[in-house]
Amino acid sequence: MTKNTVILYSSTDGQTLKICQEIKVQLELKGLDTDLFSIDDTTINLKQYSLIIIGASIRYGVHHKKIIQFINSSKTLLDTVKTVFFSVNLVARKPEKNTPSTNPYVIKFFKNIDWKPTLVEVFAGKLDYKKYPFFDRVMIQFIMWITKGPTNTDTEIEYTDWKKVQSFSEKIVAIA
Ligand SMILES: Cc1cc2nc3c(=O)[nH]c(=O)nc-3n(C[C@H](O)[C@H](O)[C@H](O)COP(=O)(O)O)c2cc1C
Repeated sequence: MTKNTVILYSSTDGQTLKICQEIKVQLELKGLDTDLFSIDDTTINLKQYSLIIIGASIRYGVHHKKIIQFINSSKTLLDTVKTVFFSVNLVARKPEKNTPSTNPYVIKFFKNIDWKPTLVEVFAGKLDYKKYPFFDRVMIQFIMWITKGPTNTDTEIEYTDWKKVQSFSEKIVAIA
């Protein structure tokens, strides 16, 4: 196997990480040896990779600032290799907001950053009220209420479309 692919993620409650782990499995099935690191890991030497995949979730309308800092500070490197970006959020549970050109967070993200990855995707995440501390729970309930989603705090729904993750992995293999 060639060790040329790395996935970097930012995940608070684990759903983006779960998607990254599935992509890693899919890529390795196709012979792409893939490393997986948190964006917080500062020990990674990115120069060894020819394909860099970045996955990040949305919290209160934005991707983690470390993702943005990483992209801005690694721009030169990112422009010399194949790159992939995907966003995970709950608005993407809506069919009319689940593509890079229709998801408001992805649209805004690329308006504000000087980077054009080879591939971009967006996945619906997970709603799990039990996991959220009081303030976040109330805020998510409010977000769900305005976007006509479930507001019952017993709700635990994984909206992620795993078939979409699989076909995205195939697209990644195609550009690798
Ligand atoms: C505190 C908090 C704020 C969130 N804010 C948003 C938001 O503004 N828009 C949205 O679509 N989803 C929002 N979400 C939903 C997350 O993007 C979704 O749960 C995702 O699966 C989280 O991924 P992670 O577990 O990798 O962090 C929020 C979730 C939490 C817990």
